[in-house]
Amino acid sequence: MSFKTTGSSASGSIGRLPKSTSRARITAIGSYVPERILTNADLERMVDTSDEWIVQRTGIRERRICAPDQFTSDLCIAAVKDLLARYPVSLDDLDLIIVATHTAELACPSAACLVQGHFGFPRAGALDINATCAGFVYALHLANGMITAGLHRKILIVGADALSKTTDYTDRTTCILFGDGAGAVLVERDDERPGFVAYHGGSDGTGAIHLYRTILSSRLQGRELKADGTVVQNGREVYKFAVTTVPAGVEALLRQTGLTAGDIDRFIPHSANLRILESVCERTGITMDRTLHTIERFGNTSAATIPLALDRGVREGQLKDGDTVLMYGFGGGLVHAGLLWRWSSFDK
Ligand code: UT7
Repeated sequence: MSFKTTGSSASGSIGRLPKSTSRARITAIGSYVPERILTNADLERMVDTSDEWIVQRTGIRERRICAPDQFTSDLCIAAVKDLLARYPVSLDDLDLIIVATHTAELACPSAACLVQGHFGFPRAGALDINATCAGFVYALHLANGMITAGLHRKILIVGADALSKTTDYTDRTTCILFGDGAGAVLVERDDERPGFVAYHGGSDGTGAIHLYRTILSSRLQGRELKADGTVVQNGREVYKFAVTTVPAGVEALLRQTGLTAGDIDRFIPHSANLRILESVCERTGITMDRTLHTIERFGNTSAATIPLALDRGVREGQLKDGDTVLMYGFGGGLVHAGLLWRWSSFDK
């Protein structure tokens, strides 16, 4: 499948985007990764692998790993602290906290409640959502919908995962991939400069067996699963899902909006594997130089990869006012979700 780039230059979409009915804008961002670095050399000492194999097959060079007493809610809190330190926003009137994660340390209360409890946001509701590596995009889609519908004005989203807590470090097919981190964004009502442009997503529950982690039950689709609470993945199947579903989703978004691949200023796909990113770029016609990711230094951080890459773009000045940003998440479920978003600088 190949979608050719036609027409305009990288910043050529400004003024061409369909009129948005959305009322939501991202107004602040923060992120956090733990201090401890796990390098490919470290992994060479743990399992039968090599730096060369890992870099060639995944592009990953190192990842960040939580301290023993550090969990997903701690990552979330640190990311929100970073947001508050960098942007002069008051969250006293925050309506809702959504944490996108599948590695919350407790089944109950949610990570979002632990965030609320830490900061004491007086009137915020709190909930976690689990859409694995597509969780941040789904959370942004939900927040946009609630704000646009007039239900809320201010929503805090955190995409966070502590995958080191759920990784089997004797399984070389998974332990080389995963790292820990969190990214937070504030989404606020803005009638003048809304960000949301278009959404496309879907799921294929028949592929559940290709990526799972057990909690209470060890049966899935009639099969008895590995039930030690660590992630199990059929990498080849998930790879195939990603490199077919994401390009098709990108094409659907472009069709919906009348844009071309050349109109996408910044592409932020879920950073699962650099080879997947390259394949998606080749199939969609979005050039790699427009892609923002954190795969080399942070590995696959699941729900955190997209906000970490967004924040990288903000910190490095790689996101300009009016840029058309395409975020696309995919992962266990199997699920996928993409959002076209018009970026607004925070200083306006
Ligand atoms: O974020 C959630 C979504 N997840 C993903 O998107 C992950 C998608 N999948 C992938 O990224 C890739 O499939 C992997 C990186 C997980 C694996 O790469 P691959 O190129 O698909 O390798 P493979 O599974 O086809 O395995 C090729 C060979 C096998 O050996 P044989 O059977 O050919 O002898 C594996 O046993 O590589 C072997 N292998 C390794 N060798 C050295 C698997 N893992 C390793 C390793 N080091 N870490």
